[in-house]
Amino acid sequence: MTTATIADFSKRLDETAEDTEALLAKLLSDVLLPDEIARPKRLMDAMRYSSLGGGKRLRPFLVVESSAVFGVGREAALLAGAALECIHCYSLIHDDLPAMDNSDLRRGRPTLHKKTDDATAILAGDGLLTLAFDIITRDQIHKDPTVRLLLTRALARASGLGGMVGGQMLDLAGEGRFGDREPVDVARVQQMKTGALLRYGCIAGAILGQSTPKEHQALDDYGRALGEAFQIADDLLDVEGDAAALGKQTGQDAALGKTTFVTQLGIDGAKQRVRDLLARADSALSIFGAKGDVLRAAAHFVAERKS
Ligand code: IPE
Ligand code: IPE
Ligand code: MG
Ligand code: MG
Ligand code: MG
Repeated sequence: MTTATIADFSKRLDETAEDTEALLAKLLSDVLLPDEIARPKRLMDAMRYSSLGGGKRLRPFLVVESSAVFGVGREAALLAGAALECIHCYSLIHDDLPAMDNSDLRRGRPTLHKKTDDATAILAGDGLLTLAFDIITRDQIHKDPTVRLLLTRALARASGLGGMVGGQMLDLAGEGRFGDREPVDVARVQQMKTGALLRYGCIAGAILGQSTPKEHQALDDYGRALGEAFQIADDLLDVEGDAAALGKQTGQDAALGKTTFVTQLGIDGAKQRVRDLLARADSALSIFGAKGDVLRAAAHFVAERKS
């Protein structure tokens, strides 16, 4: 990884974060869309609080960069990225609720339910989830409705019962929330609760760019490796990270009795697994040659991140 590639990566991540922020602000404005009756102020304020002004915007970045591999227009990719970010922000709001991880701090600020109340946080999450599907089906995403349909269905699969939501269920079951502590297949839980949305960010470009099956598979393999590395890094940061840099409390997983790669493999074992996953991500991108450089740098960023 050359210094130029790393600098290019950071610049591009910053640019996408900035563009995503502006786009989300527009999508969450008070202006009504056709057929909407009203946008209640308390709900809008809550949705804006949890979607604007924070977050690395890694998922939109993955959509933009996987799309760039196929020369897909930036506007369409940003819109798809914003839809994915809405799902991510909703997942964080609900993840932080007292009934789930009971977290007080997110992105360096009080969590939404702390700032407002549980009902407002639940509804803001519901609002973001639904808005994501409004966005992902819009005409500007792709001129061919079949492409939009494939993109939408893939988003539903990544977000829903066989993806993020299912993973969150297994995560809580593994804590012993629902009676006997169920044996945890950590790799499976991670792949679902976190991996599925990150993987979607990577295959979204292949869908939008109408790639060959081989290219789609390469991004799929890359996305899976990146997704797993991302959550292992998150689990490591929960043990070793700095709460101020992270903007969220540390030590939460141990307090809740969660099974993670760190509890299963130990700190060194978890770090070794991240290195193995990085190698997998690198090799998956090989078919793209230099066009895969930014995504390659993204995988390194994910593995080495401090926040
Ligand atoms: C945090 O995701 C939640 C997990 C899936 C581990 P991020 O670390 O991407 O959170 P933000 O969006 O940058 O705040
Ligand atoms: C959250 O995993 C995954 C989702 C929100 C779907 P964590 O519970 O580990 O995320 P943090 O540590 O609270 O950000
Ligand atoms: Mg959680
Ligand atoms: Mg949590
Ligand atoms: Mg965590």
